[in-house]
Amino acid sequence: MPWQSITDPYAIWVSEIMLQQTQVATVLERYPKMMKRFPSVAHLAGADIDEVLAEWSGLGYYSRARNLHACAKQVVTQYQGEFPADPIKLEKLSGIGRSTAGAIAAFAFRIRTPILDANVKRVLARLFGITGVLQEKKVSDSLWQLAAELLPRSPTQMSVYTQALMDFGATWCTAKQPVCVTQKAQCPFEGACQANARDQVLAIPKKIPKKKSPQFQCTVGILTYGNAVLLQKRPAKAIWGGLWSLPESPWQEQADADSKAPANELTGMQLINTVLANGAVKDTPTLFASPVTIGARIKHVFSHRILQIQAYEMPLNANAKKELENAIQHGEIPFIWAELGGLEQYGLAQPIRQLLEGWNRVRDAAESDQCGHAVPIDLKNKP
Ligand code: ADE
Repeated sequence: MPWQSITDPYAIWVSEIMLQQTQVATVLERYPKMMKRFPSVAHLAGADIDEVLAEWSGLGYYSRARNLHACAKQVVTQYQGEFPADPIKLEKLSGIGRSTAGAIAAFAFRIRTPILDANVKRVLARLFGITGVLQEKKVSDSLWQLAAELLPRSPTQMSVYTQALMDFGATWCTAKQPVCVTQKAQCPFEGACQANARDQVLAIPKKIPKKKSPQFQCTVGILTYGNAVLLQKRPAKAIWGGLWSLPESPWQEQADADSKAPANELTGMQLINTVLANGAVKDTPTLFASPVTIGARIKHVFSHRILQIQAYEMPLNANAKKELENAIQHGEIPFIWAELGGLEQYGLAQPIRQLLEGWNRVRDAAESDQCGHAVPIDLKNKP
């Protein structure tokens, strides 16, 4: 792995943040790009947040990208661009939790300090037969205590030990298919593991029953002018904060978001007033006359909620575009007309990217069937 056998704290930190909630295979593909784009903490700290979010696009959990940027700035201003080796200091930086602080200190500085991510918690809970709920403070404290007691004596072993522990949890002692159950390999801890001895491997860690995720639905507008689509910047504190997205209605909680009920037909003005809910757009004849088509409906599953997104498509002519811009120009939400063929340069919310890129492929195919060339547009008056 490109983040192993290195000692640059910056490179290690970036890899640890990327690996937190993203699959190793995805990080393998995206990490070299990230490092090329932001080769040092100074490059990252000096970048615009939009550039960081664009580079993070598709990796999900965007607070990681915002924290990455904030942390780079802290390292530059508080530590003259050098990451501290002390895990207590590392943990005070944006986006670095106790386990990540331990991992950075162990990998970059060979500090004898424990890690305890979800995989390692499971390994230790099984090995020591801990049957309590891992989220409880008492249980968590005793796991940290065990993790500290198990550290190798020599700091030179810290890197290999920490990586081995992570990898063992991620690949051998997995939640549902540990090797002692699948018999695909012989677990080196077979004789020592208390969960194994008591035939409790799959019962540890104890699961707390998951609450059913609340379900929401919203409408988005694909408002196009030629080959460009109107994007709005999401407020910093909202979900997908700081990313570009389609104009969107407020989310409505639903009893049954899986319902296949057909979407409502909307007029141009109804669509505009649904997705640009600030009421700024008055009944204007050109917009009113624009045809609206019901577009794709996609389901996006967050960690704690489910969102059904219903798209509506509305191509605008030059007059309708002007009317719309007059109406939203003075609003608080920044907007742009983005070329549909160049969406990769924008930090877009993942389901919106999926929706727009899918929609654009279908549109391109239909257009080349009909006339074989793209329609040029004038984007000079973008705000
Ligand atoms: N998850 C978090 N850090 C990791 C690492 N260094 N290797 C593999 N998976 C990880």
